[in-house]
Amino acid sequence: MISHDSKIIIVGAGVFGLSTALWLARAGYKNISVFDRCAFDVNYYNPLDGCDGASADINKIFRTGYGTEQEYQALAIAAREIWLAWNQEIKESSPSELPPGITPEDKVLDLCGNFFLAEGPELRVFYKDSLSSMEKTAPESRALQFVKGNIEDEERLRKIDPRWVKTFHALDGINDNNTNGFFDIQGGVTLADKACTYARFLCEKAGVKFVLGSPQGKLQSLIVEQVGSEKKVTGITTADGQSHQADIVIVACGGWTATVIPEAHRTVETTAGTLMFIDVPKTRKDIWDKFNSKNFPAWSYRRGEGDETSRYYQGGGFPITRQGRLKFGFRGRKFTNFQNHPTAPNLRVSTPRTKYTEDTINTVPLYGLKLVKEVIGKAFPELAEFGFTDTRLCWYTDSIDNNFVIDYVPGYTDSLFICSGGSGHGFKFLPILGKHVKNQLERVPDQFTHLWKWRAAEHDKECNGLEQGESGPREMSKIQMAERKESQPPQGSTAQHCPTG
Ligand SMILES: Cc1cc2nc3c(=O)[nH]c(=O)nc-3n(C[C@H](O)[C@H](O)[C@H](O)COP(=O)(O)OP(=O)(O)OC[C@H]3O[C@@H](n4cnc5c(N)ncnc54)[C@H](O)[C@@H]3O)c2cc1C
Ligand SMILES: *[C@@H]1O[C@H](CO)[C@@H](O)[C@H](O)[C@H]1NC(C)=O
Ligand SMILES: *[C@@H]1O[C@H](CO)[C@@H](O)[C@H](O)[C@H]1NC(C)=O
Repeated sequence: MISHDSKIIIVGAGVFGLSTALWLARAGYKNISVFDRCAFDVNYYNPLDGCDGASADINKIFRTGYGTEQEYQALAIAAREIWLAWNQEIKESSPSELPPGITPEDKVLDLCGNFFLAEGPELRVFYKDSLSSMEKTAPESRALQFVKGNIEDEERLRKIDPRWVKTFHALDGINDNNTNGFFDIQGGVTLADKACTYARFLCEKAGVKFVLGSPQGKLQSLIVEQVGSEKKVTGITTADGQSHQADIVIVACGGWTATVIPEAHRTVETTAGTLMFIDVPKTRKDIWDKFNSKNFPAWSYRRGEGDETSRYYQGGGFPITRQGRLKFGFRGRKFTNFQNHPTAPNLRVSTPRTKYTEDTINTVPLYGLKLVKEVIGKAFPELAEFGFTDTRLCWYTDSIDNNFVIDYVPGYTDSLFICSGGSGHGFKFLPILGKHVKNQLERVPDQFTHLWKWRAAEHDKECNGLEQGESGPREMSKIQMAERKESQPPQGSTAQHCPTG
């Protein structure tokens, strides 16, 4: 049984590891060490500086709408309070009280609003559910959501602040305005790298120790002993040859989780999301203004259903960053990359491949890139001349049902704990996730215990793609990657030349 004196090792200093460490330390756990192979104390979670975890990013969507999933909806609303408190703490600090990488001008959550759009005039079921669920359980939050094309809602928005009305129409160009959806002004974007830097700083203040960078922070293997019929993890070895003793090891390795815990290979699977960037030149003040978060929301747009029709689209974009970077994401189809497991013989697991892995990659699948280019070429013709200036594969950690996986790994006498399965929606919970991770560690049942329990994909059953394995259609070796020229502006540099249809 875990106690305040237990020696706890957390592997992974992304959102899941940080939030766990923070809540445990603040609750009185005295002996927590977090290991990560990335030198976050030097690069501050900058995705252009050697960090390739999902959390190391410039921005992520913060939303509260969750369809009928009221547990996550309530968790997001609770997280929002802490996000705003962090904004306030940062603002009220003097520069010397803040960690390097953060200044009093920084925010970790920017409430620029979220726009959720789908094709056609009829409000999509997921959006209807999100709105009615909010109406039932959090009417004060529902009052901050506005249905596209609803005149009364537009008036309501104008009364709150006339500047929102412009934002309400900032996405009318998508699909020639043949869209339905809603706008939510309690949402926005988290400034992901700043947020992780700040959370890590709060962890250190609460007494958490960090071992960062390679080789000293890189887990080589778990130290496993056999105790009767059960196994027990007694610590980890790191790539510098050291071993570190622990009473409990919490694995929060994001996309790399199954490479550390082989038993998790049908519980979580890493898949690649497609990100594309446009770096807007300083001279284009018109574009900087248009996409400024004061005028422009984070948006997502869906077209078609499911994965198998070749035209299915689910993508979105963000306001411009302070550095002038526009980010677009595509998650209509996610891709696997099966490799030999580093420690378990005869096991193949999907494994992240990035700019910074040994088998380096600096492009994205053509499939998503083409669809995104088509949507933004029509919606924002002024961007067509730039092409994409950069791309990134960003690795999800999908569970079989998109619920997180936060539980003891069976068969290890409560010495090994998995804290993962972010499934593309974990970032927004950075300030609060650890509160409920702590419950699972202490075996205090809460509303998430049944959702986050250890579980695995079954053969012959649809399990969010995890049932497909290496022979499935989304394995990266089978798909066409974009070549440099496909990221470039279309010939003639006008929107009309973007592929349409
Ligand atoms: C493309 C994309 C878009 C997303 N968009 C959103 C969004 O808009 N809103 C939202 O709320 N969520 C979003 N998410 C989800 C969110 O980013 C994740 O749920 C969250 O960041 C996962 O955090 P993590 O700590 O589990 O993993 P990670 O951030 O990947 O952290 C894992 C850490 O483990 C470390 N590690 C791995 N192996 C080892 C080892 N052997 N030794 C030491 N350290 C190791 C890595 O270096 C890394 O730092 C998105 C995810 C993706 C991929
Ligand atoms: C943490 O645990 C280690 C190993 O048991 C021990 O050597 C160390 O003194 C502990 N530190 C604290 C602060 O309790
Ligand atoms: C787009 O459609 C909405 C209704 O959904 C309407 O209010 C708006 O004026 C339209 N915008 C343009 C530019 O036609």
